[in-house]
Amino acid sequence: MTESTVPILDILLALLFPLLIVLVGRRFLPPFPWSDVRQLLTGFRISTSHPFSLTRAYSSYLKYGLLSKQEAAAMERSYVSIGRAHKHLGFKIGYPRKLNRFKEAIDRNTATATAIAALAAQEFSLEDTPCETNQTDLGRVRESLKHFVRDWSEEGARERDKIFRPILRVLEQVPVSERAGMRVLVPGSGLGRLAWEISQLGFITKAVEFSYFMTLAMRFLFSPDTTTKANQHHIQPFAHWFSHQRSNEALFRTVAAPDVVPRFSSRLELIEDDFLKLRHPTRDATSSTDSSASSGPGYDFIVTLFFVDTSINIFSTIEKIYYLLRPGGVWINLGPLLWPGSAQAKAELSLDEVMHLVQEIGFSVCPSGGTDEVRAPQTVECEYTSDKNAMMRWIYRAEFWVATKEP
Ligand SMILES: C[S@@+](CC[C@H](N)C(=O)[O-])C[C@H]1O[C@@H](n2cnc3c(N)ncnc32)[C@H](O)[C@@H]1O
Ligand SMILES: *[C@@H]1O[C@H](CO)[C@@H](O)[C@H](O)[C@H]1NC(C)=O
Repeated sequence: MTESTVPILDILLALLFPLLIVLVGRRFLPPFPWSDVRQLLTGFRISTSHPFSLTRAYSSYLKYGLLSKQEAAAMERSYVSIGRAHKHLGFKIGYPRKLNRFKEAIDRNTATATAIAALAAQEFSLEDTPCETNQTDLGRVRESLKHFVRDWSEEGARERDKIFRPILRVLEQVPVSERAGMRVLVPGSGLGRLAWEISQLGFITKAVEFSYFMTLAMRFLFSPDTTTKANQHHIQPFAHWFSHQRSNEALFRTVAAPDVVPRFSSRLELIEDDFLKLRHPTRDATSSTDSSASSGPGYDFIVTLFFVDTSINIFSTIEKIYYLLRPGGVWINLGPLLWPGSAQAKAELSLDEVMHLVQEIGFSVCPSGGTDEVRAPQTVECEYTSDKNAMMRWIYRAEFWVATKEP
């Protein structure tokens, strides 16, 4: 036997044992899918968890700095591969300095990302072994940094005002004295600003959000352990988008958050779950007596902002809204119809079709040109996590409507 054949034999033998175990296992154990077997042979992979799960979000915040620095390193490699003459020009316009500023921005954002992960670890007693994450997860963390601007910065006030105003005007029609007995549900609540504003009006508000990329950041902003004063946290949320920037000052500008200090309370609760799994709220004795309007189980209002089109099955979503409202309850919607791509959605409806469906399910939609101008449908030109200084703008012509569950 020559020396080189020995390792090959060893390897073959080593492979034989797991294979035997698998074959014997398939013979005597309850059936398990071949994909499990494949995974066994390709090496164990720690729980391929839900894309928006707690572990995945936690790990992604924890690794934000590491993954972002890899991105910065790739950009640096790209740059240094140009010739001497171009590098000389690049130096003259200060490009190497810009790449350094990018790394500094990552460091600044890492402070916040790490603090978000630390709070999650504390509140959920997480183990400190993060799971695998990739560029998709990094993208979600960067996205939630932009939601800091949309929901909780002074810079985002303009974006918020356009979309919150029509919604809050409907809720403000309710006399102040009746609000404390009314329940409002906000599905797909993101970083929670709209839900918080509604609770500030005096309603009992529930924010529902199933992405922990959102809720961990929300917890960070709402917790007295991590946020004690306005504009305490400083991030550079636009640093990851070099495109469409007029200047590096714009690209690397710092945004402070939160512009007001929010807290959870008896009036504002966060449900970290799938909206489609919710049941009717149970009414406690105090609230059932003080308002004739909110009798029976169900929410008085459901408010959807940039939400209904994110669902895989629009039929289930609207049916669920209907089911969760009390008879006479009101659904307020504002948003576009940007269906999830690549045939993920069961159906991709036009606005006409959505409005038809809403009526088929049993809602009556407040008409235009009626007496109630506040509840009339309207098209709202608005933005979503925009960069106000950028050289491009993405404008939605979102639709606003108010629909009542027939009593
Ligand atoms: C386009 S975002 C809008 C967020 C927020 N309303 C805003 O306007 O900034 C939609 C949000 O809905 C959440 N979402 C989608 N389907 C959900 C479901 N079935 N249950 C809970 N949250 C859901 C997503 O995680 C995402 O944060
Ligand atoms: C990242 O991982 C998830 C889950 O493992 C996978 O679905 C996704 O396609 C991956 N994305 C990239 C860019 O590799």
